[in-house]
Amino acid sequence: PVTPLADGYGRVATDLRVSLTDKCNLRCTYCMPAEGLDWMASDQQLTDDEVVRLVTVAVERLGVREVRFTGGEPLVRRGLVDIVARTHALGVETSLTTNGLGLARTAPALAAAGLDRVNVSLDTVRAETFHTITRRDRLHDVVAGLQGAADAGLGPVKVNAVLMRGVNDDQAGELLAWCVERGYELRFIEQMPLDAQHGWSRDGMVTADEILATLEQSFVLTPDGEPRGSAPAERFLVDGGPATVGVIASVTRPFCGDCDRVRLTADGQVRTCLFAREESDLRGALRAGAPDDELARRWVTAMRGKLAGHGIDDPSFLQPQRPMSAIGG
Ligand code: GTP
Ligand code: 5AD
Ligand code: SF4
Repeated sequence: PVTPLADGYGRVATDLRVSLTDKCNLRCTYCMPAEGLDWMASDQQLTDDEVVRLVTVAVERLGVREVRFTGGEPLVRRGLVDIVARTHALGVETSLTTNGLGLARTAPALAAAGLDRVNVSLDTVRAETFHTITRRDRLHDVVAGLQGAADAGLGPVKVNAVLMRGVNDDQAGELLAWCVERGYELRFIEQMPLDAQHGWSRDGMVTADEILATLEQSFVLTPDGEPRGSAPAERFLVDGGPATVGVIASVTRPFCGDCDRVRLTADGQVRTCLFAREESDLRGALRAGAPDDELARRWVTAMRGKLAGHGIDDPSFLQPQRPMSAIGG
């Protein structure tokens, strides 16, 4: 019997996002300090079997239909391909959000394991800007990763870009042209207050309106006319299509009212929202020998505490304790 993951606002979570590690091999300035963070201790992290057990409960008992693996950087997790294969075997859609490093090498194995799609983060196609943002010289690896993913059939491949004022906000059109030429679906993301350094400011953030105005200087954008459902991205046809571009306006046009997501952190905590103030510990119950029924019950109870929205505009807003890299994007 399936108990849906319903919250107190009429929403039901069917999309599970699983963070597999808080570690990353880039150091994007909008995410982490140069020295990295205090990584999670390895005994805190769920084992591959524990991840699969909780994903199985979510799919078989709680009606989850899509599972996305995130990080940190999920490709640094050794068991990734096996976890994907065992999740795919449950009959759900599987996807991965990655920075693309090492993706060229792993894409065929991921595709063979049944992974359906990948989203790759890439904020610029200029090597110098890439270094400024990520503090690493790895642009070529990401470009190869994108190509490898497309070749392996992990598409449609999406590209996620965050624009930062004075850093890459003048490159939006260039990045779009580059993606259109290669058949990648680019989405621009408004930066959210989730950086470890707590340096986000509303004025610093490049808004969806600004991004669209910039793009409209070089492209004709028309709404794609498809129902959006719970997708965070609003999509536009580029120069009449078929290429599209998306904006994920989490801050200026929140889509919390249609949210269908729930998250599991790498240390086995349920988070009902990126911005949740509380987490529910499933790892403790799991390691204490709780049966599936009890894990499912705890998950359902956690969902009832989901907030109506992220509240970024509330005067009392507080950034969550965990940074984006430890929650999963
Ligand atoms: P698709 O199903 O492929 O469209 O995936 P997605 O866009 O939901 O996933 P992805 O991991 O690529 O996320 C892209 C960006 O969307 C993230 O970097 C976040 O900025 C934003 N995002 C994802 N989930 C949420 C969410 O629950 N709330 C908010 N506000 N933003 C989110
Ligand atoms: N706000 C919005 N998006 C962010 N990302 C990382 N930090 C933030 C933030 N503070 C993006 C990454 C990646 C995705 C998982 O989240 O660029 O594309
Ligand atoms: Fe790594 Fe993603 Fe954070 Fe960049 S934004 S440092 S790729 S987790």
